Amino acid sequence: MDGNGRWARKKGFPRIYGHRAGAEAVRSTVRAAGELGIEVLTLYAFSTENWLRPQTETRALMGLLRMTLRREVIELNRNNVRLRAIGRIHELPQNVRDELERCVDITRSNSGLILNLALNYGGRQDILDAVNASIKQGKKTIEEEDISRNLTTAGLSDPDLLIRTSGEYRISNFLLWQIAYAEIYVTPVLWPDFKRTHLQEAILNYQKRERRFGGL
Ligand code: IPE
Ligand code: MG
Repeated sequence: MDGNGRWARKKGFPRIYGHRAGAEAVRSTVRAAGELGIEVLTLYAFSTENWLRPQTETRALMGLLRMTLRREVIELNRNNVRLRAIGRIHELPQNVRDELERCVDITRSNSGLILNLALNYGGRQDILDAVNASIKQGKKTIEEEDISRNLTTAGLSDPDLLIRTSGEYRISNFLLWQIAYAEIYVTPVLWPDFKRTHLQEAILNYQKRERRFGGL
């Protein structure tokens, strides 16, 4: 979900306004994804590298996350959404973890869209943690399956489509293992401007592609 800062700057607002507008875009995208019958939506909300930002911004982001979770949980639940989180969750501020845990608990038995929030997430860290978990489990030689079932995405299928907003052509340490065969769609739209139509456009584009997974 990239482009919040640029969106705000273009309007002459402080960056946090962009993040707030970004939270609104999350709201509408989650609803659209549910209605379109998407099974899993993973949103890259905060990377392990985002801690490099000034503390005023990381604090504001954590506050926004907590408030958004608190505000949205009832509607998420009403829409049959099941919330999940990936990343080094244990390193998040305690009050964010508490709120997150509460939302995961409330929505646990829902059967609709799985909304997977990547928080304090890094693809390399995810792989490292999975390798180390495999070693702890007594593995001397590590197979693909050992990694997959120890990643924070365990139990979720690998993403089919990766949407990158704000026109950047890079992965930024997102789901590195899991996107091996994902179709990539880059849109110049800044995240706060991302609407249902953009999601539909991305899916239509995806549907035209021929996926061969290395075969013929
Ligand atoms: C993405 O928007 C939101 C988060 C990383 C939390 P940015 O804050 O990266 O926005 P730009 O890249 O400065 O436009
Ligand atoms: Mg950015």
